[in-house]
Amino acid sequence: MKADVLLGLQWGDEGKGKVVDVLTPNYNVITRFQGGPNAGHTLVFNGQKYVLRSIPSGIFQGGKINIIGNGVVLDPVLFKQEAEALAASGHDLRERLYISKKAHIILPTHRLLDAAYEAAKGDAKIGTTGKGIGPTYTDKISRNGLRIGDILCDFDKKYAAAKAKHERILKSLDFKYNIEEAEKEFFEALDYIKEFRLIDSEHVINRLLNEGQSILAEGAQGTMLDVDFGSYPFVTSSNTICAGACTGLGIAPTKIGKVYGIFKAYCTRVGSGPFPTELFDETGETICKRGFEFGAVTGRKRRCGWIDLVALKYAIMINGVTDLIMMKSDVLDGFETVKACVAYKTKDGITEEFPFDIKEEVEPVYTEMPGWNCDMTKVKSENEFPEEFNAYIAFLESELKVPIKIVSVGPDREQTIIRHND
Ligand code: GDP
Ligand code: IMO
Ligand code: MG
Repeated sequence: MKADVLLGLQWGDEGKGKVVDVLTPNYNVITRFQGGPNAGHTLVFNGQKYVLRSIPSGIFQGGKINIIGNGVVLDPVLFKQEAEALAASGHDLRERLYISKKAHIILPTHRLLDAAYEAAKGDAKIGTTGKGIGPTYTDKISRNGLRIGDILCDFDKKYAAAKAKHERILKSLDFKYNIEEAEKEFFEALDYIKEFRLIDSEHVINRLLNEGQSILAEGAQGTMLDVDFGSYPFVTSSNTICAGACTGLGIAPTKIGKVYGIFKAYCTRVGSGPFPTELFDETGETICKRGFEFGAVTGRKRRCGWIDLVALKYAIMINGVTDLIMMKSDVLDGFETVKACVAYKTKDGITEEFPFDIKEEVEPVYTEMPGWNCDMTKVKSENEFPEEFNAYIAFLESELKVPIKIVSVGPDREQTIIRHND
């Protein structure tokens, strides 16, 4: 068997959690391969809303195995809160959730460093989620990190060394803090984690594949936040792209099957950094309100704009997307016209190729199409799509050269249209 990958093609929050939950019945195993509690993946079903940060979105559908892979950075305290909340709502995870021993641990001082670095950057701050993601991946790459497997052996010594190093940096940045309470919670949470199955995930995952089990790898963030290919330096600190599933799970590239690329019918971004199609007018406000564009975890208002096909084509190329999934189509209901950015005007002329830098000198070139006046949230099959919406989809497919296989028309699990366009 091969593993399928589902990942975001924009700046995150495309609706990955919802679609992973919808696709879960087709798979035996769901995995996360990068990121950490900077993610907020929302699922809605039976009138209930759940937000997952580190736990894969396959946890609600039957007895599937869910694995937190080696590429993830795990905050024990937030993980405990998340797992306890799920257990309280009747979803006990102990038997079905495995954690890689090679996943790196977010320490309380990593969170402090995240805050201290952001404060030191002043106006140039990245607008991180404040979860300690950057400092934890920095320690991983500089070979100073602590891993889940370390909690089983000699942890206190390693922890003390890391903490002392971090405190020296915090002092040099003149950052004031009090760590006692956070440390107490942290050690309690480590004891809680020890009760889960801590595994050599690369062996388990490859064994499962060889036994013919189907695996879906759930991306976090989005391609434009990838540390190599996103809008650097306004990115996260992991590889959010398809290749990240290979390194974040220990799966060979030849073992990757379908690559689901997910995007909104428009575009959003949260935090700082360039966003060529951002709207500062009433249309942007309307999209924000109708799409309820506020961070699932931080509650921050998301910046909104029209769909950017230059960035999308780039993301499709980098990821080798085989199947597209379009989300939040209902949010554009009722606009007289809708726009799509088909090229950028730069100081060197017009380009359809994503440039090295997309700072303010990039101006979007738009195609404008008739909008649709229909309540898409009520649509049950693609036969009911209004003519103008069909034209929008046909235009996107002709530009992007990959079929749109799933269209989402509302937050609920049920508001999902599978298209039959093979
Ligand atoms: P993720 O991080 O990619 O999982 O996405 P988030 O959960 O952060 O953000 C997506 C938001 O859009 C959530 O509030 C979802 O409940 C909501 N959502 C998902 N699909 C749709 C849709 O088709 N229409 C509408 N209106 N909302 C949706
Ligand atoms: P999901 O998985 C949207 C953004 C932050 C910031 C930048 C770096 O829900 O789509 P970090 O805390 O990772 O160092 O922040 O990345 N960011 C996200 N934006 N969705 C996410 O996750 C994000 N995770 C990080 O806002 O701009
Ligand atoms: Mg999110």
